[in-house]
Amino acid sequence: MKSSISTFIYLFLLLVPFVSSTGGVFKVEHKFFGPGLRERSLFNLSAIKAHDTARHNRILAAIDLHLGGNSDPTNSGVYYTEIKLGSPPKRYYVQVDTASNDLWVHCAECNNCKRTEQEFYDPKKSDTGKIVTCKEDFCSNMYGGSYPECKSPDMPCEYEATYMDGSKSSGYYVKDYIHFNQVSGNFLISPEQESVVFGCGTKQSGDLRSGSKGLDGLLGFGQSNSSVFSQLASSKKVRKVFSHCLDGQNGGGIFAIGQVVHPKVKFTPLVPKQPHYNVNLEEIKVGKASIELPTHLFKTGEVAMIDSGATMLYVPDVVYTPMIHEIMSNKPDLKLQTVENHQCFEYSGSVDDAFPTVTLHFEDSLILTVYPHEYIFSHEVSGKKLWCIGWQPLKDKTILGVLALSNKLVVYDLDKQAIGWTAYNCSSSIQLLDDQTGALYSVAAHDLSSASAMSWFPAAAGASSLLVIKSVTTSPTG
Ligand SMILES: *[C@@H]1O[C@H](CO)[C@@H](O)[C@H](O)[C@H]1NC(C)=O
Ligand SMILES: *[C@@H]1O[C@H](CO)[C@@H](O)[C@H](O)[C@H]1NC(C)=O
Ligand SMILES: *[C@@H]1O[C@H](CO)[C@@H](O)[C@H](O)[C@H]1NC(C)=O
Repeated sequence: MKSSISTFIYLFLLLVPFVSSTGGVFKVEHKFFGPGLRERSLFNLSAIKAHDTARHNRILAAIDLHLGGNSDPTNSGVYYTEIKLGSPPKRYYVQVDTASNDLWVHCAECNNCKRTEQEFYDPKKSDTGKIVTCKEDFCSNMYGGSYPECKSPDMPCEYEATYMDGSKSSGYYVKDYIHFNQVSGNFLISPEQESVVFGCGTKQSGDLRSGSKGLDGLLGFGQSNSSVFSQLASSKKVRKVFSHCLDGQNGGGIFAIGQVVHPKVKFTPLVPKQPHYNVNLEEIKVGKASIELPTHLFKTGEVAMIDSGATMLYVPDVVYTPMIHEIMSNKPDLKLQTVENHQCFEYSGSVDDAFPTVTLHFEDSLILTVYPHEYIFSHEVSGKKLWCIGWQPLKDKTILGVLALSNKLVVYDLDKQAIGWTAYNCSSSIQLLDDQTGALYSVAAHDLSSASAMSWFPAAAGASSLLVIKSVTTSPTG
């Protein structure tokens, strides 16, 4: 897995079999002013410790991660959540990415990272922050047995994460409290915290420098046991089920850990033993026309990766050309032009009336429907309004980013090793099961971007250039 590419997290000398990718459409940088800028210190460490001991071995009902962001590639194209770290807790905004594993945030020693308003995370300034050393189990596990250069017992355990767009985050692992919202009743949350290991980023390169879109870091929801989600699950704090409903209309949406009872979703099995959330793709239809899938890929199973960290929709080169042809087949007069890797055209009507719906058919008859207004986005170039197609060619991979994942409840059930979805109104609410009591609790949608008095990505800035891409990946065997 070395020269072949791109997005694996590898930890120094040793290759760890987890591939990673994150999304990114990086346009202009806007400073991010989150809601409620500073924490008030209402924090009582001994109270927290007492509470932790008391609830030892208890499974949490569910966790509600408030979302912000949107699926518009010309505006943001990423979704993020708010987490709090350390003691006293400080707030950070991190992109949610189901295709990578680690949580990392920009750290105090990072001299090329940007952040506004609040300080960077600093383990020395947190009463509960602790540097993970190379002798610790977490570190040896990450390095497949033992850390290669563990010369002294207090040497920090370093990490390095490389993403497909060439950006990179490196630093060292720390252990500290993460604070989150436990679902404690109908539309009710209560604060909870748990000690987890995450990356303290001291060096960021590429687009990560200013944080993905001005964010403070990245929260990976991958299957590897280094992810925060897996750490919570292995300490029996949560079930290995999470779901998202990314609101493509209004922004924000729902991101929850726990068992969803309503709405019901239909599942397709995950391809076993793969680091990513890959599912078996059996057919792609554009309108009524079936697009031939490459047989050489098909034989070994054509898989599609579900990637909340990607914005665009990628299909193998050989699928891309007939697909675009079919998409444009009702409108032969429209002239395609290439704008920054995208096929764009001028059109004044409704795209839903003029263009076909794309459906992806998966094992066990699960269908993913992508409407024209979801895969075609408007983009202004030199005062002219164009429509651009969100499908992109990519050697031999299919990756489904937020353009296809929004407006659906997508459930990742790792206990069942399956992933499922259903069309859903992501501005509404879902119901989760409280394992302790058997009660059903509703969790409502949120939009952190609009909750803020400040608009994070002002529409007025929308006319500038569109830099697309990224999030692509390779499988460790490929
Ligand atoms: C912190 O919590 C402990 C245990 O609940 C309590 O005894 C103590 O008074 C609290 N301290 C403050 C400053 O509130
Ligand atoms: C991760 O999983 C591997 C294999 O199941 C296990 O050996 C290791 O101890 C785990 N690492 C952590 C950090 O839990
Ligand atoms: C989606 O849900 C929100 C909140 O309940 C509601 O205001 C809105 O009308 C719904 N949208 C549709 C299309 O039903």
